[in-house]
Amino acid sequence: MPEVAEVYLDGRFVPIGDARVSVLDRGFLFGDGVYEVVPVYGGHLFRLGQHLDRLAASLAAVGIADPYDRAEWEALFVEMARRAGPGDHSVYLQITRGADVRRDHVYPPDLKPTVFAMSSPLSGPPAEQLARGVSVRTLEDIRWDRCDIKAVTLLANVMLRQAAREAGADDAVLLRHGFALEGTASSLFMVHDGVLFTPPKSRHLLPGVTRDLVLELAEANGLAWREESIPETVLRRADEIWLTSSTREVMPVTRLDGEPVGDGMPGAVWKRMHGWFQACKQRLRSGSESC
Ligand code: PDD
Repeated sequence: MPEVAEVYLDGRFVPIGDARVSVLDRGFLFGDGVYEVVPVYGGHLFRLGQHLDRLAASLAAVGIADPYDRAEWEALFVEMARRAGPGDHSVYLQITRGADVRRDHVYPPDLKPTVFAMSSPLSGPPAEQLARGVSVRTLEDIRWDRCDIKAVTLLANVMLRQAAREAGADDAVLLRHGFALEGTASSLFMVHDGVLFTPPKSRHLLPGVTRDLVLELAEANGLAWREESIPETVLRRADEIWLTSSTREVMPVTRLDGEPVGDGMPGAVWKRMHGWFQACKQRLRSGSESC
């Protein structure tokens, strides 16, 4: 039984078992589409504006005409949050280029994009993972050169995450030309001598919405931070490593390739950031705009 009862597809809410997409949909045939994942805390959408900005950038980058205007997107997300009910959820939205009449790499200009959305319960990172931290493997980044686009084409990410799992780790940190970039579905942070580092935005990583909030929280609370490329060799000497995302929040990494990170426990800087992040979520839950 799927955990989602009802989904949004092309303008209608339907039971998940009744949702039908053509086998000629380019999302199915080519992974030709983009997506977003937006958390909802106590009915309130988390940084919807930033998610919609990134969605617009992804659509523009792949040349899919935006099927809705900004107000329509906002209305859809608000309705998704309302239907999800109380508690915490994540709204998954995907837009594919649509269904053609044949399989052809070249697409006609007049395809109608397929818009699909569903909400799932969001339980946040398990307390036990926050207490112990997670383990990661470094793996060579085999993805393409446009990782800044939030494309549904995630085969490389799937293979990398699976490889990390089969090697006994929770996730992978991806390396390209000797620099650490991000996780398979998360942004990367490192603490060195009390300073927080994250790689600058580029075509080799996704501009994470959670990443930007973490930097804002650092700034607001007087924690020194820098956007700077992270050489693999420096990552191996980090006092703390974190992975951040909409679903995993700020996750401490306590083992890197089997070696302890710092003292092998979630670090003091992480504890402060975790507190600021939870306070921010609480403000959002209570209806404040300030998160
Ligand atoms: N992934 N980097 C990659 C490759 C990601 O897939 C994600 C998010 C992030 C973090 O972005 P944000 O903070 O905006 O969630 C970084 C989502 C959650 C997913 O694929 O499910």
